[in-house]
Amino acid sequence: MQEARHGTRETAGDAAASAADAATRSASALARANVALVKYWGKRDEERNLPAVGSISLTLDGLEALATVRVCRDGEPRFRTNGRPVEGLAAQRMARFLDDLAASGEGGAPLLAADVEANFAVGAGLASSAAIYCAVTAAALAVLGRRVAAEELSGLARLGSGSAARSVYGGLVEWSRGVAPDGHDSVARQLLPESAWDLAMLVAITSEEMKRTASRDAMRAVAETSPLYRGWLDAQEEDLAAMRDAIARRDLAAVGRIAEENCLRMHATCFAARPPIVFWTPATLAVMDAVRALRDGGTGAYFTIDAGPQVKVLCLRADVDAVAERLAAVPGVRRVLRSGPGRGVEMVRGEAPWR
Ligand code: PMV
Repeated sequence: MQEARHGTRETAGDAAASAADAATRSASALARANVALVKYWGKRDEERNLPAVGSISLTLDGLEALATVRVCRDGEPRFRTNGRPVEGLAAQRMARFLDDLAASGEGGAPLLAADVEANFAVGAGLASSAAIYCAVTAAALAVLGRRVAAEELSGLARLGSGSAARSVYGGLVEWSRGVAPDGHDSVARQLLPESAWDLAMLVAITSEEMKRTASRDAMRAVAETSPLYRGWLDAQEEDLAAMRDAIARRDLAAVGRIAEENCLRMHATCFAARPPIVFWTPATLAVMDAVRALRDGGTGAYFTIDAGPQVKVLCLRADVDAVAERLAAVPGVRRVLRSGPGRGVEMVRGEAPWR
């Protein structure tokens, strides 16, 4: 997490723009997507969006959401992505989140609106909600003039989308389950800074469609109907401890093995739900096979899959070309995004609200 350093986004008219901002009260923050290597799957409290398990993720460079939050008038769209008003449940969810943030401060509760520019597909299993809600939280707090500790920023972002708690920090990040009923201890912390390990993550895009089942609906269905959910919960602490240890040792083979096992266990809970939930397509399976083939050929590559059909592949930066080429050749893969460890949330316009 850092202060504003987006020189490229600053223009000569900045001073004038900041003066105008002060009058209209707006602020902009940039946050990146993150991909969990040990997954958040299931909630212990739906209302407070508290996870049933801890999780560990990698914040991704280049998959960014830039959120501008401003005070708006009644009737104006409260949530736009890439210039277009968002409709339906996603819009209601954002409006409620902004209202809750505004109500939690002192001195009235202004009506807030969020304009988000994302440079990657929204709602297609690419962790867009993590980047969006993290950036919106930081920008909204700046508009509201609130100052919070970094952990509190993480806890507030969590209320919008669980995984957003992790995008506050760069590199490898752990979000604790916490035990407190009010959730104050369910916040993220950095395990390893983004510059500490030359990792790469590739995303094999197998479909650009909106996902059929939202993560939160799938989590609820799994918790209510899947006989494998209990086993998932019971196995998580061991994965978290082993992953912390593997990260501290920079042991890619161990990190990759734990990530694959954890991902398959999460998806197993979905297959066993009633009715079953299957996020995969034939291309998803074909990419998993290609990753195993890369490993058989001596390249350290490991997959993980979230609540969608895309496959994320972890490897060393030195191997990124070879891995990208192999993934792009898999039938059904539309394109391959290349990324690596990214920074935490940053202010682009306005004062950072965290200490
Ligand atoms: O943050 P949400 O509500 O979009 O849920 C994210 C769930 C997974 O992406 C499947 C796992 C994770 O830890 O990010």
